Amino acid sequence: MELLRLQKYIAESGITSRRKAEELIRHGRVKVNGKTVTEMGEKVDAEIDTVEVDGITISPETKKFYIMLNKPAGYITTTSDDFNRPTVMELTKDIPSRIYPVGRLDYDTQGLLIMSNDGDFANEIMHPSNKLKKTYLVCIKGMITPEEIRRLKSGVDIGDYFTRPAEVELIGATERESNIKIIISEGKKRQVRRMCESVGHIVLRLKRVQIGNVMLGNLPEGKWRHLRQAEIELLTKRNG
Ligand code: URA
Repeated sequence: MELLRLQKYIAESGITSRRKAEELIRHGRVKVNGKTVTEMGEKVDAEIDTVEVDGITISPETKKFYIMLNKPAGYITTTSDDFNRPTVMELTKDIPSRIYPVGRLDYDTQGLLIMSNDGDFANEIMHPSNKLKKTYLVCIKGMITPEEIRRLKSGVDIGDYFTRPAEVELIGATERESNIKIIISEGKKRQVRRMCESVGHIVLRLKRVQIGNVMLGNLPEGKWRHLRQAEIELLTKRNG
């Protein structure tokens, strides 16, 4: 018999972090054996007790999965889609556990996506204080100028937000299109696309190649692999 604190039990079921689980408990959204629990001290026995969150029975995943996926363009990073578009869940069906995307990539963006069933791990990676650097290869329409690169570097107005300084490197440019590398430590919605648009260039292709010190490398498009222990540590050590 293994007794687990209720918030740990909920986090281990993969639906959220331990901290958010405490909020769910406090807000009366959690039932143990049919009774609403709002106090923090509760312990549950994974083998005999039934825990429900918003009326849905959950169970802790004992085995943790940490993977990287090379997401192709044309897949969404939610678990289901109102418009019936393909989701990244379809590319990771062979993992015997309910894993979830950690953060998001746009439908049209490809590249490195981390997925896991460990709610605390996901929360730590996504927490703004973690400030993990994300590296993108961006192909934009038209020839980018040194002045536009300087503006992208120092920060631009993307409508509802002024971006923080970014690392920007020119890889190559022709009259038709330019290839640049952009490294940012924040993740506003469609940030890279909106940054490029704010200096007058639409994004033709966008690929994330690195998060913190973890690189996509040669993983084929549409394929996933387990993260190595060292990679898991790099992502959670706040040194990205
Ligand atoms: N920036 C974007 O614009 N899109 C992504 O998918 C990721 C970063």
